Amino acid sequence: MKVLFIGDVFGTRGQVALEKYLPKMKQDYHPDLIIVNGENIDKGFGMTLKTYKFLMEQGVRCVTMGNHTFSKRELLEFIDDANIVRPANYHKDVPGKGVQILRFNDKTVAVINIMGRIFMGDPLDNPFQVIDTLLDEIDADYIIVDFHGEATSEKLAFGHYVDGRVDAVVGTHTHVPTADAMILPKNTLYITDIGMTGAKYGILGGEKESIIHKFVTGMPSRIKEDTSKKLQFNAVLLDVENHTIKAINIHE
Ligand SMILES: [Fe+2]
Ligand SMILES: [Fe+2]
Repeated sequence: MKVLFIGDVFGTRGQVALEKYLPKMKQDYHPDLIIVNGENIDKGFGMTLKTYKFLMEQGVRCVTMGNHTFSKRELLEFIDDANIVRPANYHKDVPGKGVQILRFNDKTVAVINIMGRIFMGDPLDNPFQVIDTLLDEIDADYIIVDFHGEATSEKLAFGHYVDGRVDAVVGTHTHVPTADAMILPKNTLYITDIGMTGAKYGILGGEKESIIHKFVTGMPSRIKEDTSKKLQFNAVLLDVENHTIKAINIHE
């Protein structure tokens, strides 16, 4: 069972990168399931029905989210019926679900989205306690977790905490790929961050001038999506049956 997991797709350039590189990924690796982190797909902030449908048309089976889940309010209108998982450690009354069970042939794959709490600022339940509860409840052949967080230490600690209890932990949110794709001691596949998909020369997908201005002056600024031409595409190919993880990093 091969799963292609694509890191945070950022805005219009992210959609272009997906359309450009996904056919090659399908041809080269024949993934059984494609999962995408979609928290930034609509101009960098959240997801609309249009951008959700775009992902489904590309053959994506499940979309994971993060701190930008509800940046576009219209998501509230369709999240409950969609192939979307938002952080499982949100309050229980938050719309949507933190786990989705996918089927492929005779196997089931549980996809979980969960958020870290270090440097994130959101009022979230403890992800380590939440995952324990979830793992008691979930009945699936394979379990894949998107741990959406900023701190590398928290992500790695989470990976080791669930090592042997889930099949893969992939990190998202920082938009910068890490070089630590590995098999943990008890066979869980792990990477601290997959990296993003979108403009190569922006700053994490955002247009660089406004972000530099913010750092130089300390003044708040509205972040626009970067529209420059060169792209990056970052993903991991997980083989949850044979316990292999391969980082795919394309930088034009
Ligand atoms: Fe992101
Ligand atoms: Fe994020």
